[in-house]
Amino acid sequence: MKINDRLRQIGDLVEANSFCLDVGCDHAFLDIYLVKKNKNIKTIASDIAEGPLEQAKQNIKREQLENEIEVKLGPGLKTATKEVDTIIISGMGGRNIIGICKESPKVLKQVKTLIISPNNYQEDVKRYLCKNGFYIENEEFVKEKKFIYQIIIFKKGKKKYSKEDYFFGPIFRIKKGPLFREYFLKELKTREILIEILPKNYRLKKRQLSKEIQMIKNEIED
Ligand SMILES: C[S@@+](CC[C@H](N)C(=O)[O-])C[C@H]1O[C@@H](n2cnc3c(N)ncnc32)[C@H](O)[C@@H]1O
Repeated sequence: MKINDRLRQIGDLVEANSFCLDVGCDHAFLDIYLVKKNKNIKTIASDIAEGPLEQAKQNIKREQLENEIEVKLGPGLKTATKEVDTIIISGMGGRNIIGICKESPKVLKQVKTLIISPNNYQEDVKRYLCKNGFYIENEEFVKEKKFIYQIIIFKKGKKKYSKEDYFFGPIFRIKKGPLFREYFLKELKTREILIEILPKNYRLKKRQLSKEIQMIKNEIED
């Protein structure tokens, strides 16, 4: 079974002996990888849609892991059982992820770790979860083809973050490195283009964009 670098890196961040809920498992490649690691990881592969779950079931059967991986149809965290201590949500938009978390505050209370890899609105996800009982323990970048993805590990607890911490990621700011530079240079370019093409009456938006451009320049040169 083939697994891409992004999912492998997510899988490698899961602690031994965890009981995971993989929300939006799609093909269940991640779940199969997790149980084959022999780190006593248990997982529920869940998805809101029947099509992906059928694919997941076939893949799990092919690997003869039907007794190891539970497959559940349902939205967001509604498929969690009381044993779940780790939630994984990857490959979805940040706004969808926030919506999923908002729907199930009790499940969020019961778990100790969230492994989240949003496709966008990463800053909003960090702000929401850090205002709702979690802090950021680790952040990793992974490059898959042309795209660079963020993987964020949240743990229960409270920490204070600045505007820059939320924007760049508090752990990314410490680690920096080539992917950090590449990621935020792209963010810088996007903002420069946006400022050029936005009509003149978007003054507030333009001002915000130029502040962010300056913030990125400062951080990258730091
Ligand atoms: C692009 S796939 C990502 C698959 C995998 N997690 C990954 O990172 O490659 C997104 C999956 O999330 C599922 N999904 C979207 N919204 C969901 C929700 N609210 N609850 C559960 N699954 C959801 C979709 O049906 C789809 O299978």
